[in-house]
Amino acid sequence: MARSSAQQVEQLRNYHRMHDWLVEYLSKHRTGDVYRSYMHVLLGDGIFNADGELWRKQRKTASFEFASKNLRDFSAIVFREYSLKLSSILSQASMAGKVVDMQIGTLSPDLPENSFAQAFDATNIIVTLRFIDPLWRLKRFLHVGSEALLEQSIKLVDEFTYSVIRRRKAEILEARASGKQEKIKHDILSRFIELGEADGEDGGGFGDDKSLRDVVLNFKLRRELRAVREVERAREEGVMIIPCGDGDEENDESWFAARVAQFASLLSYDSLGKLVYLHACVTETLRLYPAVPQDPKGILEDDVLPDGRKVRAGGMVTYVPYSMGRMEYNWGADAASFRPERWINDDGAFRNASPFKFTAFQAGPRICLGKDSAYLQMKMALAILCRFYRFQLVEGHPVEYRMMTILSMAHGLKVRVTRAV
Ligand code: HEM
Repeated sequence: MARSSAQQVEQLRNYHRMHDWLVEYLSKHRTGDVYRSYMHVLLGDGIFNADGELWRKQRKTASFEFASKNLRDFSAIVFREYSLKLSSILSQASMAGKVVDMQIGTLSPDLPENSFAQAFDATNIIVTLRFIDPLWRLKRFLHVGSEALLEQSIKLVDEFTYSVIRRRKAEILEARASGKQEKIKHDILSRFIELGEADGEDGGGFGDDKSLRDVVLNFKLRRELRAVREVERAREEGVMIIPCGDGDEENDESWFAARVAQFASLLSYDSLGKLVYLHACVTETLRLYPAVPQDPKGILEDDVLPDGRKVRAGGMVTYVPYSMGRMEYNWGADAASFRPERWINDDGAFRNASPFKFTAFQAGPRICLGKDSAYLQMKMALAILCRFYRFQLVEGHPVEYRMMTILSMAHGLKVRVTRAV
Protein backbone atom coordinates (compact mmCIF):
# COMPACT_ATOMS: atom_id res chain seq x y z
CA MET A 1 0.00 0.00 0.00
CA ALA A 2 1.44 3.20 1.21
CA ARG A 3 4.52 4.43 -0.49
CA SER A 4 3.46 8.04 -0.59
CA SER A 5 3.67 10.16 2.52
CA ALA A 6 -0.05 10.96 2.28
CA GLN A 7 -0.83 7.28 2.61
CA GLN A 8 1.57 6.94 5.50
CA VAL A 9 -0.27 9.71 7.31
CA GLU A 10 -3.45 7.77 6.62
CA GLN A 11 -1.96 4.73 8.34
CA LEU A 12 -0.87 6.84 11.23
CA ARG A 13 -4.44 7.92 11.75
CA ASN A 14 -5.32 4.25 11.94
CA TYR A 15 -2.89 3.57 14.74
CA HIS A 16 -5.64 2.01 16.89
CA ARG A 17 -5.49 -0.93 14.51
CA MET A 18 -1.92 -1.63 15.60
CA HIS A 19 -2.91 -4.84 17.31
CA ASP A 20 -4.44 -6.32 14.17
CA TRP A 21 -1.54 -5.17 12.07
CA LEU A 22 1.16 -6.50 14.30
CA VAL A 23 -0.37 -9.74 15.49
CA GLU A 24 -2.61 -10.83 12.66
CA TYR A 25 -0.54 -9.64 9.78
CA LEU A 26 3.06 -9.49 10.80
CA SER A 27 3.95 -13.04 9.95
CA LYS A 28 2.76 -12.30 6.42
CA HIS A 29 4.07 -8.77 6.19
CA ARG A 30 7.31 -8.67 8.08
CA THR A 31 10.06 -7.77 5.73
CA GLY A 32 8.78 -8.61 2.28
CA ASP A 33 10.78 -8.52 -0.91
CA VAL A 34 11.07 -4.75 -1.09
CA TYR A 35 12.42 -4.28 2.42
CA ARG A 36 14.61 -7.33 2.09
CA SER A 37 16.15 -6.17 -1.15
CA TYR A 38 16.87 -2.68 0.22
CA MET A 39 18.39 -3.88 3.47
CA HIS A 40 20.06 -7.10 2.33
CA VAL A 41 23.37 -5.45 1.63
CA LEU A 42 23.67 -4.55 5.31
CA LEU A 43 21.65 -7.13 7.20
CA GLY A 44 22.12 -10.17 4.96
CA ASP A 45 19.98 -13.07 6.20
CA GLY A 46 20.16 -11.96 9.83
CA ILE A 47 17.06 -12.08 12.01
CA PHE A 48 15.88 -8.55 11.15
CA ASN A 49 15.86 -9.23 7.47
CA ALA A 50 14.56 -12.80 7.48
CA ASP A 51 11.07 -14.21 7.07
CA GLY A 52 9.46 -17.64 7.35
CA GLU A 53 11.60 -20.58 8.38
CA LEU A 54 14.85 -18.64 8.32
CA TRP A 55 13.39 -16.15 10.81
CA ARG A 56 11.68 -18.81 12.96
CA LYS A 57 14.94 -20.72 13.42
CA GLN A 58 16.91 -17.64 14.43
CA ARG A 59 14.12 -16.34 16.67
CA LYS A 60 14.01 -19.69 18.48
CA THR A 61 17.76 -19.83 19.05
CA ALA A 62 18.00 -16.19 20.04
CA SER A 63 14.92 -16.26 22.37
CA PHE A 64 16.40 -19.23 24.14
CA GLU A 65 19.70 -17.41 24.58
CA PHE A 66 18.08 -14.20 25.77
CA ALA A 67 16.00 -16.04 28.36
CA SER A 68 19.04 -17.72 29.91
CA LYS A 69 20.23 -16.63 33.32
CA ASN A 70 23.72 -17.26 32.07
CA LEU A 71 23.47 -14.56 29.40
CA ARG A 72 21.80 -12.17 31.81
CA ASP A 73 24.57 -12.65 34.37
CA PHE A 74 27.45 -12.14 32.04
CA SER A 75 25.61 -9.27 30.34
CA ALA A 76 25.53 -7.46 33.68
CA ILE A 77 29.28 -8.01 34.05
CA VAL A 78 30.03 -6.80 30.52
CA PHE A 79 27.73 -3.77 30.80
CA ARG A 80 29.31 -2.82 34.11
CA GLU A 81 32.78 -3.13 32.61
CA TYR A 82 31.85 -0.91 29.64
CA SER A 83 30.05 1.62 31.81
CA LEU A 84 33.21 1.91 33.90
CA LYS A 85 35.25 2.45 30.73
CA LEU A 86 32.82 5.17 29.74
CA SER A 87 33.15 6.68 33.18
CA SER A 88 36.92 6.69 32.89
CA ILE A 89 36.75 8.48 29.53
CA LEU A 90 34.42 11.07 30.99
CA SER A 91 36.55 11.48 34.06
CA GLN A 92 39.62 12.20 31.90
CA ALA A 93 37.66 14.66 29.79
CA SER A 94 36.41 16.48 32.86
CA MET A 95 39.91 16.78 34.27
CA ALA A 96 41.24 18.08 30.95
CA GLY A 97 38.26 20.41 30.54
CA LYS A 98 37.64 18.91 27.12
CA VAL A 99 34.39 18.96 25.21
CA VAL A 100 33.15 15.43 24.45
CA ASP A 101 30.84 14.20 21.77
CA MET A 102 28.50 11.71 23.40
CA GLN A 103 27.42 10.17 20.11
CA ILE A 104 28.55 6.57 19.89
CA GLY A 105 31.85 5.82 18.20
CA THR A 106 33.33 9.26 18.62
CA LEU A 107 33.76 9.34 22.33
CA SER A 108 36.93 7.60 23.30
CA PRO A 109 40.31 9.29 23.10
CA ASP A 110 41.65 5.75 22.67
CA LEU A 111 39.74 5.32 19.45
CA PRO A 112 41.64 7.43 16.94
CA GLU A 113 40.38 5.18 14.13
CA ASN A 114 36.66 4.79 13.91
CA SER A 115 36.33 4.10 10.22
CA PHE A 116 34.14 1.07 10.97
CA ALA A 117 31.67 3.19 12.92
CA GLN A 118 31.62 5.78 10.15
CA ALA A 119 31.20 3.16 7.43
CA PHE A 120 28.46 1.42 9.42
CA ASP A 121 26.61 4.69 9.87
CA ALA A 122 27.01 5.58 6.20
CA THR A 123 25.65 2.18 5.19
CA ASN A 124 22.77 2.56 7.55
CA ILE A 125 21.87 6.02 6.23
CA ILE A 126 22.15 5.05 2.56
CA VAL A 127 20.02 1.91 2.82
CA THR A 128 17.40 3.97 4.66
CA LEU A 129 17.46 6.57 1.90
CA ARG A 130 16.65 3.84 -0.61
CA PHE A 131 13.08 3.98 0.69
CA ILE A 132 12.68 7.50 -0.62
CA ASP A 133 15.16 7.62 -3.50
CA PRO A 134 13.56 6.26 -6.68
CA LEU A 135 16.91 6.40 -8.49
CA TRP A 136 18.84 4.15 -6.15
CA ARG A 137 18.85 1.12 -8.46
CA LEU A 138 20.13 3.23 -11.34
CA LYS A 139 22.85 4.67 -9.11
CA ARG A 140 23.80 1.18 -8.02
CA PHE A 141 23.92 0.01 -11.64
CA LEU A 142 26.15 2.94 -12.59
CA HIS A 143 28.19 2.75 -9.37
CA VAL A 144 27.66 6.44 -8.69
CA GLY A 145 26.63 8.73 -5.85
CA SER A 146 25.26 7.27 -2.65
CA GLU A 147 25.32 3.73 -4.00
CA ALA A 148 29.02 3.99 -4.84
CA LEU A 149 29.66 5.16 -1.29
CA LEU A 150 27.52 2.29 -0.04
CA GLU A 151 29.70 -0.23 -1.91
CA GLN A 152 32.85 1.19 -0.35
CA SER A 153 31.30 1.38 3.09
CA ILE A 154 29.91 -2.12 3.08
CA LYS A 155 33.32 -3.42 2.00
CA LEU A 156 34.87 -1.77 5.03
CA VAL A 157 32.10 -3.00 7.32
CA ASP A 158 32.50 -6.55 6.01
CA GLU A 159 36.29 -6.56 6.23
CA PHE A 160 36.16 -5.37 9.80
CA THR A 161 33.36 -7.73 10.83
CA TYR A 162 35.00 -10.79 9.27
CA SER A 163 38.28 -9.87 10.93
CA VAL A 164 36.55 -9.66 14.33
CA ILE A 165 34.95 -13.08 13.75
CA ARG A 166 38.21 -14.69 12.66
CA ARG A 167 40.08 -13.16 15.57
CA ARG A 168 37.48 -14.30 18.07
CA LYS A 169 37.46 -17.84 16.67
CA ALA A 170 41.25 -17.95 16.97
CA GLU A 171 41.09 -16.64 20.55
CA ILE A 172 38.53 -19.29 21.47
CA LEU A 173 40.69 -22.05 19.97
CA GLU A 174 43.77 -20.74 21.72
CA ALA A 175 42.00 -20.43 25.08
CA ARG A 176 40.74 -23.98 24.79
CA ALA A 177 44.12 -25.34 23.71
CA SER A 178 45.82 -23.73 26.70
CA GLY A 179 43.02 -24.83 29.07
CA LYS A 180 42.20 -21.19 29.86
CA GLN A 181 38.51 -21.11 29.00
CA GLU A 182 38.00 -18.14 31.29
CA LYS A 183 39.91 -16.04 28.79
CA ILE A 184 37.12 -16.42 26.24
CA LYS A 185 35.30 -13.12 25.90
CA HIS A 186 31.68 -13.50 26.96
CA ASP A 187 29.40 -11.80 24.53
CA ILE A 188 26.80 -12.54 21.88
CA LEU A 189 29.43 -13.32 19.25
CA SER A 190 31.10 -16.01 21.37
CA ARG A 191 27.67 -17.48 22.13
CA PHE A 192 26.74 -17.71 18.48
CA ILE A 193 30.13 -19.18 17.56
CA GLU A 194 29.59 -21.87 20.20
CA LEU A 195 26.06 -22.47 18.95
CA GLY A 196 27.40 -22.84 15.41
CA GLU A 197 29.95 -25.38 16.56
CA ALA A 198 27.35 -27.33 18.49
CA ASP A 199 24.74 -27.32 15.76
CA GLY A 200 26.92 -27.81 12.72
CA GLU A 201 26.07 -26.39 9.34
CA ASP A 202 22.39 -27.20 9.33
CA GLY A 203 21.48 -26.80 13.01
CA GLY A 204 21.22 -23.27 14.37
CA GLY A 205 22.70 -22.08 11.08
CA PHE A 206 25.62 -20.18 12.60
CA GLY A 207 28.36 -22.55 11.45
CA ASP A 208 29.82 -20.32 8.73
CA ASP A 209 31.37 -16.87 8.85
CA LYS A 210 28.71 -15.32 6.61
CA SER A 211 25.92 -16.25 9.05
CA LEU A 212 28.01 -14.94 11.93
CA ARG A 213 28.64 -11.73 10.00
CA ASP A 214 24.87 -11.30 9.63
CA VAL A 215 24.35 -12.00 13.33
CA VAL A 216 27.03 -9.48 14.32
CA LEU A 217 25.66 -6.73 12.10
CA ASN A 218 22.04 -7.34 13.06
CA PHE A 219 22.93 -7.14 16.73
CA LYS A 220 25.30 -4.24 16.12
CA LEU A 221 22.36 -2.35 14.66
CA ARG A 222 20.48 -2.91 17.89
CA ARG A 223 23.49 -2.06 19.98
CA GLU A 224 23.54 1.31 18.32
CA LEU A 225 20.71 1.89 20.71
CA ARG A 226 23.14 1.72 23.54
CA ALA A 227 23.03 3.49 26.78
CA VAL A 228 25.16 6.54 26.26
CA ARG A 229 22.95 8.00 23.62
CA GLU A 230 19.93 7.48 25.81
CA VAL A 231 21.82 8.92 28.73
CA GLU A 232 22.29 12.12 26.89
CA ARG A 233 18.76 12.29 25.63
CA ALA A 234 17.49 11.69 29.12
CA ARG A 235 19.83 14.34 30.39
CA GLU A 236 18.68 16.81 27.81
CA GLU A 237 15.21 16.18 29.09
CA GLY A 238 16.32 16.95 32.60
CA VAL A 239 17.00 13.66 34.38
CA MET A 240 18.12 14.58 37.86
CA ILE A 241 21.77 14.31 38.81
CA ILE A 242 22.57 13.81 42.44
CA PRO A 243 25.71 15.65 43.53
CA CYS A 244 27.42 14.69 46.76
CA GLY A 245 30.46 16.00 48.66
CA ASP A 246 33.12 18.40 47.41
CA GLY A 247 36.41 17.44 49.10
CA ASP A 248 39.96 17.80 47.84
CA GLU A 249 40.07 14.13 47.01
CA GLU A 250 37.99 15.03 43.98
CA ASN A 251 41.19 15.55 42.06
CA ASP A 252 42.56 12.19 42.92
CA GLU A 253 41.96 10.13 39.83
CA SER A 254 42.43 6.70 41.37
CA TRP A 255 40.37 7.58 44.42
CA PHE A 256 37.56 8.69 42.16
CA ALA A 257 37.83 5.58 39.95
CA ALA A 258 37.74 3.34 43.02
CA ARG A 259 34.65 5.09 44.29
CA VAL A 260 32.89 4.67 40.95
CA ALA A 261 33.92 1.01 40.80
CA GLN A 262 32.68 0.41 44.32
CA PHE A 263 29.33 1.97 43.48
CA ALA A 264 29.15 -0.02 40.22
CA SER A 265 29.79 -3.29 42.03
CA LEU A 266 26.40 -2.81 43.73
CA LEU A 267 24.66 -2.68 40.37
CA SER A 268 23.38 -6.07 39.27
CA TYR A 269 20.41 -7.31 37.28
CA ASP A 270 18.41 -7.53 40.52
CA SER A 271 19.43 -4.24 42.11
CA LEU A 272 18.94 -2.31 38.87
CA GLY A 273 15.53 -3.96 38.61
CA LYS A 274 14.51 -2.09 41.74
CA LEU A 275 15.30 1.36 40.33
CA VAL A 276 11.76 2.22 39.31
CA TYR A 277 12.31 5.93 38.65
CA LEU A 278 15.30 5.23 36.45
CA HIS A 279 13.26 2.64 34.55
CA ALA A 280 10.54 5.25 34.11
CA CYS A 281 13.07 7.83 32.84
CA VAL A 282 14.43 5.43 30.23
CA THR A 283 10.91 4.45 29.13
CA GLU A 284 9.79 8.07 28.94
CA THR A 285 12.86 8.89 26.85
CA LEU A 286 12.06 6.06 24.46
CA ARG A 287 8.44 7.17 24.24
CA LEU A 288 9.54 10.58 22.95
CA TYR A 289 12.67 9.41 21.15
CA PRO A 290 12.06 5.83 20.05
CA ALA A 291 15.33 4.41 18.81
CA VAL A 292 13.50 2.90 15.83
CA PRO A 293 11.36 5.92 14.91
CA GLN A 294 9.49 4.25 12.07
CA ASP A 295 9.31 0.65 11.07
CA PRO A 296 8.21 -0.32 7.58
CA LYS A 297 6.84 -3.75 6.69
CA GLY A 298 6.80 -5.31 3.25
CA ILE A 299 3.62 -6.96 2.02
CA LEU A 300 4.21 -10.51 0.87
CA GLU A 301 0.76 -11.26 -0.54
CA ASP A 302 -2.43 -9.38 -1.38
CA ASP A 303 -4.53 -8.96 1.73
CA VAL A 304 -7.29 -6.97 3.39
CA LEU A 305 -6.69 -4.98 6.58
CA PRO A 306 -9.33 -5.04 9.36
CA ASP A 307 -10.78 -1.72 8.20
CA GLY A 308 -11.46 -3.25 4.79
CA ARG A 309 -8.55 -1.56 3.09
CA LYS A 310 -6.91 -3.69 0.42
CA VAL A 311 -3.15 -4.00 0.38
CA ARG A 312 -1.11 -5.27 -2.51
CA ALA A 313 1.85 -7.67 -2.53
CA GLY A 314 5.08 -5.75 -3.10
CA GLY A 315 3.87 -2.62 -1.27
CA MET A 316 4.61 -1.54 2.25
CA VAL A 317 2.88 -0.54 5.45
CA THR A 318 4.61 1.44 8.17
CA TYR A 319 3.95 2.08 11.81
CA VAL A 320 5.56 5.14 13.34
CA PRO A 321 6.51 4.87 17.03
CA TYR A 322 7.85 8.44 16.96
CA SER A 323 4.40 9.84 16.23
CA MET A 324 2.52 7.31 18.33
CA GLY A 325 4.65 8.26 21.33
CA ARG A 326 3.55 11.88 21.00
CA MET A 327 -0.18 11.48 20.45
CA GLU A 328 -2.37 13.20 23.02
CA TYR A 329 -5.04 10.60 22.39
CA ASN A 330 -2.61 8.00 23.73
CA TRP A 331 -0.78 9.91 26.44
CA GLY A 332 -2.98 12.82 27.45
CA ALA A 333 -2.64 16.57 27.12
CA ASP A 334 0.96 16.53 28.36
CA ALA A 335 2.05 14.02 25.69
CA ALA A 336 4.84 16.33 24.56
CA SER A 337 6.33 16.73 28.06
CA PHE A 338 9.02 14.53 29.55
CA ARG A 339 7.25 13.22 32.64
CA PRO A 340 8.60 9.92 33.98
CA GLU A 341 5.94 9.96 36.71
CA ARG A 342 3.36 8.87 34.15
CA TRP A 343 5.01 5.44 34.33
CA ILE A 344 4.69 5.11 38.10
CA ASN A 345 1.66 3.81 40.02
CA ASP A 346 0.31 5.34 43.21
CA ASP A 347 2.01 2.54 45.14
CA GLY A 348 5.38 3.43 43.56
CA ALA A 349 5.56 0.42 41.22
CA PHE A 350 6.33 0.71 37.51
CA ARG A 351 3.18 1.04 35.42
CA ASN A 352 3.52 -0.93 32.21
CA ALA A 353 1.81 0.12 28.99
CA SER A 354 0.65 -2.24 26.28
CA PRO A 355 3.31 -2.68 23.60
CA PHE A 356 0.60 -1.74 21.11
CA LYS A 357 0.49 1.69 22.71
CA PHE A 358 4.16 2.11 23.63
CA THR A 359 5.55 0.74 20.39
CA ALA A 360 9.27 1.56 20.73
CA PHE A 361 10.05 -2.16 20.92
CA GLN A 362 7.35 -3.19 18.44
CA ALA A 363 4.67 -5.68 19.50
CA GLY A 364 3.34 -9.10 18.57
CA PRO A 365 5.32 -12.10 17.37
CA ARG A 366 8.35 -10.05 16.36
CA ILE A 367 8.59 -7.88 19.44
CA CYS A 368 12.16 -6.89 20.30
CA LEU A 369 14.10 -9.75 21.81
CA GLY A 370 16.68 -7.55 23.46
CA LYS A 371 14.36 -5.30 25.45
CA ASP A 372 15.46 -6.48 28.89
CA SER A 373 19.07 -6.48 27.80
CA ALA A 374 18.71 -2.93 26.46
CA TYR A 375 17.18 -1.72 29.75
CA LEU A 376 19.96 -3.41 31.68
CA GLN A 377 22.61 -1.65 29.59
CA MET A 378 20.96 1.73 29.72
CA LYS A 379 20.25 1.58 33.43
CA MET A 380 23.74 0.40 34.27
CA ALA A 381 25.32 3.32 32.39
CA LEU A 382 22.75 5.87 33.56
CA ALA A 383 23.02 4.88 37.22
CA ILE A 384 26.78 5.47 37.13
CA LEU A 385 26.72 8.60 34.99
CA CYS A 386 23.89 10.27 36.89
CA ARG A 387 25.56 9.54 40.18
CA PHE A 388 29.04 10.78 39.30
CA TYR A 389 28.80 13.39 36.52
CA ARG A 390 27.07 16.52 35.39
CA PHE A 391 26.71 17.35 31.72
CA GLN A 392 26.19 20.66 30.04
CA LEU A 393 25.39 21.03 26.39
CA VAL A 394 28.00 23.18 24.62
CA GLU A 395 26.40 26.52 23.99
CA GLY A 396 24.99 26.85 20.50
CA HIS A 397 25.53 23.19 19.63
CA PRO A 398 22.76 22.18 17.21
CA VAL A 399 20.97 19.02 18.33
CA GLU A 400 19.23 17.74 15.24
CA TYR A 401 17.95 14.42 14.00
CA ARG A 402 19.68 12.41 11.34
CA MET A 403 17.52 10.33 9.04
CA MET A 404 18.49 6.69 9.33
CA THR A 405 17.01 3.43 10.61
CA ILE A 406 18.10 4.31 14.12
CA LEU A 407 17.24 7.73 15.48
CA SER A 408 20.50 9.58 15.90
CA MET A 409 21.98 13.05 16.06
CA ALA A 410 23.18 14.77 12.90
CA HIS A 411 26.00 16.69 14.59
CA GLY A 412 26.58 14.44 17.56
CA LEU A 413 26.09 15.77 21.05
CA LYS A 414 28.84 18.04 22.30
CA VAL A 415 28.89 18.42 26.06
CA ARG A 416 31.12 19.60 28.87
CA VAL A 417 31.36 17.17 31.67
CA THR A 418 32.21 17.71 35.32
CA ARG A 419 32.57 15.23 38.12
CA ALA A 420 29.98 15.30 40.86
CA VAL A 421 31.42 13.37 43.78
C1 HEM B 1 16.50 0.89 23.19
C2 HEM B 1 16.86 -0.23 22.64
C3 HEM B 1 16.08 -1.03 21.62
C4 HEM B 1 14.95 -0.71 20.93
C5 HEM B 1 14.13 0.58 20.99
C6 HEM B 1 14.64 -1.82 20.08
C7 HEM B 1 13.58 -1.88 19.21
C8 HEM B 1 13.29 -2.95 18.38
C9 HEM B 1 12.27 -2.95 17.36
C10 HEM B 1 11.35 -1.79 17.01
C11 HEM B 1 12.27 -4.17 16.78
C12 HEM B 1 11.39 -4.63 15.63
C13 HEM B 1 12.18 -4.55 14.33
C14 HEM B 1 11.36 -5.08 13.18
O1 HEM B 1 10.98 -6.26 13.18
O2 HEM B 1 11.07 -4.31 12.29
C15 HEM B 1 13.30 -4.94 17.42
C16 HEM B 1 13.59 -6.25 17.10
C17 HEM B 1 14.64 -6.94 17.65
N1 HEM B 1 15.49 -6.51 18.64
FE1 HEM B 1 15.45 -4.72 19.57
N2 HEM B 1 15.56 -2.81 20.28
C18 HEM B 1 16.46 -2.36 21.22
C19 HEM B 1 17.57 -3.02 21.69
C20 HEM B 1 17.91 -4.29 21.36
C21 HEM B 1 19.08 -4.98 21.83
C22 HEM B 1 20.13 -4.37 22.78
C23 HEM B 1 19.07 -6.21 21.28
C24 HEM B 1 20.03 -7.32 21.42
C25 HEM B 1 21.08 -7.35 22.17
C26 HEM B 1 17.87 -6.31 20.45
C27 HEM B 1 17.49 -7.43 19.74
C28 HEM B 1 16.43 -7.49 18.87
C29 HEM B 1 16.14 -8.63 17.99
C30 HEM B 1 16.93 -9.91 17.91
C31 HEM B 1 15.02 -8.28 17.24
C32 HEM B 1 14.37 -9.09 16.11
C33 HEM B 1 13.20 -9.87 16.56
C34 HEM B 1 12.56 -10.61 15.41
O3 HEM B 1 12.56 -10.14 14.26
O4 HEM B 1 12.02 -11.69 15.68
N3 HEM B 1 17.19 -5.14 20.53
N4 HEM B 1 13.90 -4.19 18.39
